[in-house]
Amino acid sequence: AVNLKGRSFLTLMDFTPQEIRYLLDLAHDLKAKKRAGISGDLLRGKNIVLLFEKTSTRTRCSFEVACHDEGGHVTYLESSGSQVGKKESIEDSAKVLGRFYDGIEYRGFDQKTVEDLARYSGVPVWNGLTDIDHPTQILADMLTMEEHMAKPLNKAKVIFCGDIRNNMAYAWMYGCAKMGVHFVAYGPDELEVDPDVLSASRKVAEATGSVIEVSSDPGCLKGADVIYTDVWASMGEEDQIPAKVKMLTPFKVTTELLAATENPDVLFLHCLPAFHDFETKMAKEWKEKGFDIREVTDEVFRSKHSVVFDEAENRMHTIKAIMVATL
Ligand code: CP
Ligand code: NVA
Repeated sequence: AVNLKGRSFLTLMDFTPQEIRYLLDLAHDLKAKKRAGISGDLLRGKNIVLLFEKTSTRTRCSFEVACHDEGGHVTYLESSGSQVGKKESIEDSAKVLGRFYDGIEYRGFDQKTVEDLARYSGVPVWNGLTDIDHPTQILADMLTMEEHMAKPLNKAKVIFCGDIRNNMAYAWMYGCAKMGVHFVAYGPDELEVDPDVLSASRKVAEATGSVIEVSSDPGCLKGADVIYTDVWASMGEEDQIPAKVKMLTPFKVTTELLAATENPDVLFLHCLPAFHDFETKMAKEWKEKGFDIREVTDEVFRSKHSVVFDEAENRMHTIKAIMVATL
């Protein structure tokens, strides 16, 4: 039987397919329980702390609501409001927070920070996004696929379009490799996927029957079950927008791109937040400077293929599963 008590959740690469399956099953159960109005106490007496060096809506709210739903308590610390990393090293902060809290969530830049927090705190640490990974998002995405697809994960083909070098692309590679999903990173040749990420994923894929591809050829879209995209410039990379717009516009998710899958039931997923119109301050400002930063059209975003709000809700159920399983 799977037992994840005391484990940290830093990357899906640390987990076996059976353990990931267990987390997904637990998330399905916890979602059904919440829908039925059954309140839980699986985190009663637990205190958790959320450290955010980058902004968030879904991830922060998921941890807070999930913890409260199960009777736990939350402290939220944003980078300007604590000593962590500025006046006090990660090692010392981890040792202190480990004395107060039963679990620590961290969102920020370096993967090494989550690793150090886990090493020195002595309590489970959950990765809420780093520059190179976003593992909690993948659980939500897979839960959403299972709710909307007629086939199991290991028969599915996922295409990630656009910035194939970002945290979401890498998190997807790891997740698909582990769960036997056919994955294609569809983006420009100029963006070279980290060879270590690719080889590590492919090594896992050999054992699970997954295929991990990188392609700039629209022919790869055929037969896709999921079209996924993310912003073209991640948090902290806004200076790259002009170059990225030029490079990634051919990979914008449009109705034509969906049609190229030849799958009438293709799903559109996006971790959110998304640029699909000019209603945001950022999209407007870049438009005035002559750059269209939309990675997906409004038509696709609002189409029947789009399950992005189910996906967003599923962040909460899957994050709840991670906390319940590890605490
Ligand atoms: N998808 C996601 O992580 O959203 P937030 O940045 O709002 O947490
Ligand atoms: N790649 C995006 C994901 C946001 C959830 C970023 O890092 O900004």
